Amino acid sequence: MPRAALRKPSPDLDLSAWLKMPEDLPPMLSSQSLFGNDLPLEIEVGSGKGLFIQTESERRPKHNYFGIEIAKKYAAHAAARLAKRKRANAMMLAGDATPLFASGTYVEGERYGQPAVERIASGSLEAVHVYFPDPWWKKRHRKRRVLSESNIRQFSRCLRTGGRLHFWTDVLDYFELTVELIAEIAPELGVPLPETQRESTHDLDYHTHFERRSRKFGIPVYRVHYIKRDRSR
Ligand SMILES: C[S@@+](CC[C@H](N)C(=O)[O-])C[C@H]1O[C@@H](n2cnc3c(N)ncnc32)[C@H](O)[C@@H]1O
Repeated sequence: MPRAALRKPSPDLDLSAWLKMPEDLPPMLSSQSLFGNDLPLEIEVGSGKGLFIQTESERRPKHNYFGIEIAKKYAAHAAARLAKRKRANAMMLAGDATPLFASGTYVEGERYGQPAVERIASGSLEAVHVYFPDPWWKKRHRKRRVLSESNIRQFSRCLRTGGRLHFWTDVLDYFELTVELIAEIAPELGVPLPETQRESTHDLDYHTHFERRSRKFGIPVYRVHYIKRDRSR
């Protein structure tokens, strides 16, 4: 399904505090280096138009939100939502999430599996959110999925014990394969915990734009989260 055309943010809106480029980032990503405080840090991978980061950063002002969106115009659109609301606990990066999560582990055949300097400390994140990642339908393209083997390992590495990985999709095959993969390679994440569908009370009262679209078309949505366990016990 093609995506609707996107309006450019008004040139009068100063996005500088809300839209970062990879070269603007500090070497290590943390609440302290990004927001100048020690609030729990949550990262959304593939924020799209930014509905989740907008609503969640308002709902939980005592957490920081860092949205990563590879498509610059979508990152700018999401940043404009935050800028209009002068949100102090959220910002967007226009860039690729994969190299930011990498830690030097090389996985044969992975598209982005090159060694890298660690940018996110192990055990430092409160949550990683992945909503409606691009499905890459063709089997030969599956390695491009954001929930690849190496990214799942990295998301889990970066979560603190008790931290959460949220994954929602409307692609049953992606959902089933990912749930199986997590059980196999990241058992510290435990079992998938279902998340319930909330009734929407207005036209933008959805978790993300893709959730809104799927529900309007009557397409089932599969929603789970995981909580990282302490495996030493
Ligand atoms: C299908 S859209 C879903 C957007 C949003 N999460 C939602 O539910 O409305 C997937 C988004 O992930 C972004 N994306 C894909 N690969 C990415 C990556 N490696 N890093 C950051 N963003 C990525 C795409 O540009 C796209 O905007």
